[in-house]
Amino acid sequence: MNAPKRTTVGIVGAGPAGLLLARLLHQAGVDCVVLETRDRPYVEQRQRAGVLEQSTVDVLRASGAGERLEREGLPHDGIELSWSGRRHRIDFPKLTGGKRVWVYAQTEVVKDLIKLQLADGAPLLFQATATGVTGADTASPTIHYTYEGEDRTLTCDYVVGCDGYHGVARQAIPESALTTYERVYPFSWFGILADVPPSSDELIYAHSPRGFALLSMRSHTVSRLYLQVPNGTDPNAWTDEQIWDELDARFAVDADWKLQRGPITQRAVLPLRSSVTEPMRWGRVLLAGDAAHIVPPTGAKGLNLAAADVTVLARAFIELHTTGDDSALAAYSDTCLRRVWRAEHFSYFMTSTLHSDPDQTAFDARLQLSQLDRIASSPHAAAELAENYVGVAL
Ligand code: APR
Ligand code: PHB
Repeated sequence: MNAPKRTTVGIVGAGPAGLLLARLLHQAGVDCVVLETRDRPYVEQRQRAGVLEQSTVDVLRASGAGERLEREGLPHDGIELSWSGRRHRIDFPKLTGGKRVWVYAQTEVVKDLIKLQLADGAPLLFQATATGVTGADTASPTIHYTYEGEDRTLTCDYVVGCDGYHGVARQAIPESALTTYERVYPFSWFGILADVPPSSDELIYAHSPRGFALLSMRSHTVSRLYLQVPNGTDPNAWTDEQIWDELDARFAVDADWKLQRGPITQRAVLPLRSSVTEPMRWGRVLLAGDAAHIVPPTGAKGLNLAAADVTVLARAFIELHTTGDDSALAAYSDTCLRRVWRAEHFSYFMTSTLHSDPDQTAFDARLQLSQLDRIASSPHAAAELAENYVGVAL
């Protein structure tokens, strides 16, 4: 592909945020270019979460990327919480006035968006590495990047950093203009993919004295499971049998239920972090998705927040493009941060209620159990969880 030199919106990063933004802009006739440092197979195979809120499904459909999602996505009307040998179901439609979520892997969302974009979309360059962004406070911010062994520049009206937590776009903003709020957790998730039908129709979030565990799925034949492990755990130090034994112990329930085992096809350890960078815009550089905020995966909010950011941003660019009015763009950061902080709180709540902090006291553990009992016995407490899980309208 020819390396473009000029565009209206330059987008760094082809994760869900960058790809969906490019799709929405292209549909509305706003010129844009996406630069992605990795190659296509890497981006399409990177394992991430897989729960979509209705609003995320709606925007994917509107972007034209809803076809396979509609066919293969699994609608979920609830989740199970598990603790002290018991389970409690959170019934989403009942508690939220009819809402539900969809299980459809982020890898599939990314594949669908890339396919559309390459078929009929704005330029998307793989193995194009942004090395820096200059002129954030001018009318033509510029992305410096390398592509096919050469240093190049892309001059833009606006630059959007969809380049994840370690991205370069945010470095275009003076450090003194940004505040980062952060929490690092003293544990990680050990995630596996296994060729075995999911042992439950619904996701199970398990609290146990041995640590948290999550049962999720990718399809009717592939399970996705997670174990809380200490930071720095080597995923290859565990045998398959040790992983299944530990999952068994953490999902133990006083009922006739068995966790089905199967060949483990992928394993990885990911650290947990909460982080928000404010503001999400400075001059003509805007941040979206993981570039601006990170949530621990316990609330399944990362992808949904990224989709919400770029929905707001695309609308703002389209308004500017069609009417010349930049007020929605001016409000971008404030509009997004309300939702971001709600999701940060929920993700922190789910994480701290369900995990065993290595430093926690017996008192802390009893508080967790009391909170879980409260959710099981109070429709109000359950509704608070359900509303947040399916996505709060903000
Ligand atoms: N130049 C070009 N591309 C870059 C650069 C760079 N200098 N730095 C990073 N990238 C690319 C990465 O390779 C990656 O493909 O930016 C992309 C960022 O994508 P994601 O990390 O998927 O972030 P985002 O699109 O915001 O999606 C958020 O991903 O991490 C999950 O839980 C998170 O589900 C949420 C979603
Ligand atoms: C997943 O399926 O990968 C998944 C599901 C729910 C979560 C996190 C991850 O909260």
